[in-house]
Formats: sequence, structure tokens, C-alpha cells
Amino acid sequence: MSEKELVRFHIDGLEVEAAKGQMLLPVALEYGVEIPHLCYHEAVSSYGACRLCLVEVTKGGRTRMTTSCNYPVEAGIEVAVSTENVQRARRMILELLLARAPHSEKIRTMAQEAGVEEARFRVLDVDDCILCGLCERVCREVVKANAITFVNRGDRREVAPPFGDPLACIACGACVYVCPTDCIKMEERGDERTIVRWKRTLKMQPCQSCGKPFAPLFQLNWIIDRAHLPKDFYALCPVCRKTKKG
Ligand code: SF4
Ligand code: SF4
Ligand code: FES
Repeated sequence: MSEKELVRFHIDGLEVEAAKGQMLLPVALEYGVEIPHLCYHEAVSSYGACRLCLVEVTKGGRTRMTTSCNYPVEAGIEVAVSTENVQRARRMILELLLARAPHSEKIRTMAQEAGVEEARFRVLDVDDCILCGLCERVCREVVKANAITFVNRGDRREVAPPFGDPLACIACGACVYVCPTDCIKMEERGDERTIVRWKRTLKMQPCQSCGKPFAPLFQLNWIIDRAHLPKDFYALCPVCRKTKKG
């Protein structure tokens, strides 16, 4: 297998090294350079949706502003992460995001840190979703359930189960975990788990030892089928499984 070509370049004057073609944002984060970001997650492909990870890149004497999560690095580029231009653009983006997701703790904190107190824009039907697509990518690329997708265009664009039918959702909660605005809620009542945003409720399997319901039966069987595991692989909850092993 061929070794990846390593390239050197500068981020805010700091010399860094990375594999050619690697995206700029993870390289910066690895070197401890903070760049605000919302739609990037190391577990899934980059999508460049929130525009928050803007930086200025100088290459061959020309400087341009670009999102860093989907910018492949090259030898000799000079990256500046918080120039006046970048800060101004970031503030504008945060105002827009704040208008879309006014209840998001994360966005409010980011906006405050950037000096944005209030959004001048108004968005009707606010539901705190910034259309970052992280939930859709994690469901498709990691969980591989393809239970949700982007639907509609323009103002009506949203992430939802295809044709409004959440039947493919295994209620694993991965989308809940990655959503940067916390607008996908998961509730557990008795032996049922509900992913509120997708209107999906599934019965949970009780642990054969302690009796506590611990995960949706549909999810466990789905994993067992795909990974060719023994049928009783998930008979015990994680706690009893650990105790038994110990
Ligand atoms: S809870 Fe449903 S929609 Fe969310 S990642 Fe799991 S399968 Fe996909
Ligand atoms: S529901 Fe959350 S993760 Fe999904 S697109 Fe909206 S903000 Fe992003
Ligand atoms: S993190 Fe780069 S565009 Fe969202």
C-alpha cells in the first residue's frame, strides 16, 4: 500500500504537517487551533453546511475565504483563522444560526463569544434545526439505517423520515447524540423509547438478569442480523453484562 504524501503548511504562523488532501479543520483541531464549527464530526463525511468554520487561505499570492471542514490541505498554504474579515463573516453567520435556533445553548454561547447578542433576522416556524445534516449523515454513514433524509426545497427544506414514514428508524439515538442544537429529543417511558422528532416509538428489550428495559428490541435484532451474532447476544443489559464478566 502506498504511503500517504505528507505536506507542510502554516496555520496562524504555526508550522503543521498533514497528509495531502486531508481536510483542514481536523488538522487545525489536532494542533490545538480552535476554529468554531457545527456541522463537522470526525465520524462522518464533511458537508460544509453551517459555514461557521471559515478561514482565510493564501495560496500562490492569492487569499480567499473558505470553509475549512471541506478544504483539502496542500503544501505551502498559509491559513489565518481569525482575521477581521473572518470574524465579521462568522458574526453574520452566527446571527443567521441564532435566528434559526434561538433555543440552542451551544449556538447562543458561540454567538455571545463572538459578540452577537441578538439576531436581527426573523425566521418563521423556528424549530431549532440549522439543517447541518449531521443526523442524516450519521444515520446513513455510521448506523446505515437510512431512516431520515433531506426533503423539500427552499424555505420548506428539512430533515425527516422519507415520505414521513419512520419505519426504518431503529431508535438507536445516534442522531440525538450528534445534533449540535439538541433539537432531536429521545424519551424513555416504561419499556418504550421514543425519538420525538421522527415520531418513532419502539418497545425496549428487558434484561434477562435485572429485568430493566435497556434498548429497543428492533435495534438489537437489527444489529444481530447484520453482524451475524448469536440470537441471545443481547440478553443482558450493559451493566449486568459487565458484572457477569467481572
Ligand atoms: S435514531 Fe433512527 S434516525 Fe436516528 S440515527 Fe438511529 S436509526 Fe437513524
Ligand atoms: S436535526 Fe439537528 S443534526 Fe439534524 S440537521 Fe437539524 S440541527 Fe442538524
Ligand atoms: S463545520 Fe464547516 S461548514 Fe460547518
